[in-house]
Amino acid sequence: MGSMTRRAAALLTALSVLGCGATGEPSQGATGSDSGPTDTAEPGVGAPGIGDPDFPLDGNGGYDVAHYALRIGYAPARRRLDGEATIQARATQALSRFNLDLRGFTVGGVSVDGAAATFTRKGDELSVTPAEPLARGAEFAVKVAYSGTPRPVRGSSNLGTYGFIPTADGAFVTAEPNGAKTWFPGNDHPADKATFDFEITVPAGVTALANGELVSRTAAPGGGTTFTWREAHPMATYLATATMGRFTLREGRTAGGIRSLAAVDPRFSSALGELYRRSGEITDHWVTVFGPYPFSSTGGVVDDFSAGYALENQTKPMYGGFEPGESIIAHELAHQWFGNSLSIERWEDLWLNEGFATYAEWLWSEHTGGDTAAQRFKTAHARPANDPIWSYPPGDARPGDLFNESVYTRGAMTLHALRREIGDRAFFTLLKTWAAEHRHGNVTTEQFTALAERLSGKRLGSLFDAWLFQPRRPSA
Ligand code: TRP
Ligand code: ZN
Repeated sequence: MGSMTRRAAALLTALSVLGCGATGEPSQGATGSDSGPTDTAEPGVGAPGIGDPDFPLDGNGGYDVAHYALRIGYAPARRRLDGEATIQARATQALSRFNLDLRGFTVGGVSVDGAAATFTRKGDELSVTPAEPLARGAEFAVKVAYSGTPRPVRGSSNLGTYGFIPTADGAFVTAEPNGAKTWFPGNDHPADKATFDFEITVPAGVTALANGELVSRTAAPGGGTTFTWREAHPMATYLATATMGRFTLREGRTAGGIRSLAAVDPRFSSALGELYRRSGEITDHWVTVFGPYPFSSTGGVVDDFSAGYALENQTKPMYGGFEPGESIIAHELAHQWFGNSLSIERWEDLWLNEGFATYAEWLWSEHTGGDTAAQRFKTAHARPANDPIWSYPPGDARPGDLFNESVYTRGAMTLHALRREIGDRAFFTLLKTWAAEHRHGNVTTEQFTALAERLSGKRLGSLFDAWLFQPRRPSA
């Protein structure tokens, strides 16, 4: 479900046609094990990356995932995960071989359309050779059985630890930017969104929380419980969660009628009421500012893992080891529109997520009688000339320092500078139009700046250039 996938596919298809003549037959070039998964231009072979130049091995090329069905058994005491992933996809080129992203685990077997496939592994790439090559345009199902101890990524610089993080009573699963591969095989890049079914079996007393809606909760053989969840709207892989542990739940609807679920670890039981009420109130408010809620429910989860951060997991933002205040709740819920419904196609455009969510904090403050957005802007602009946000252009988020504060704060300042330039009326129309036109899709900075110019009737090139792309402080 991604347009970058299609672009990369068009290129690869062209190469594959050159390689095997006009018949369009799949090439036979994928049999040797000497050609490693990092070869990109081999005819009939899916690329090991989706085409994000900053993360060359994230995601994969040559197919487009429509749906993941994940069956997961997890035993917290043994830290043992048994998984079976069934991935429905469409080949965007002829494929004699394609890759999935998977980190760690023992792969027990892979099949494509029910027939055993051969596979090799190299780094975080799982290369699958189906018994029969797939024709361009073919829909196929790949099933992967895997098991072992999940290990999160200990990220470099400001990425922290992310992915499937085992805790004493379960797991805390927050995977931005590329930690989905630490718990299921897939196309781990936001340019390929898909729907998800989760069937998670855990020991008695443990609750498993995934995205979307709970479909069923049944007794499993052996005394455990199987939780079945469904996310029926397209979702980026990093937003998928299967957070497990002891949880106290509160369910209902917001005043505006949106389903809502709050869950807290017993250590944070006093936070449950406030989390539930605030999340509902803020979701309803964002509907008035950003437009219709894009998913089937809202809410939030507080776990006892001391991450110290939050992640906007689709329908279920997660807060790691702290009682969230209204500002961070406003931030994570704004991501449901900006980041989750509208997903970036390349990580360099991350300000479209974090700048918007940070500006939402400013809007929430303004709405509740605190500092206005103009005051927040002024304070930020008064940072000293040598503050690192001035030398880091937020419109070009760098892979080694992706979540730099500039992407958040200077990204938010960009939106405020835009609001001043085009006026409140055009600005708030722009936010709603942006969310509506790209609902459940993928976006780029160029699309946003073009829409801003179209709706305002103004030329905004120098404003965006100064705020997003120059390594110096713009004049106020
Ligand atoms: N996107 C998160 C936020 O809104 C921050 C974040 C980045 C994160 N990478 C993460 C959270 C990994 C959890 C895990 O602030
Ligand atoms: Zn954020």
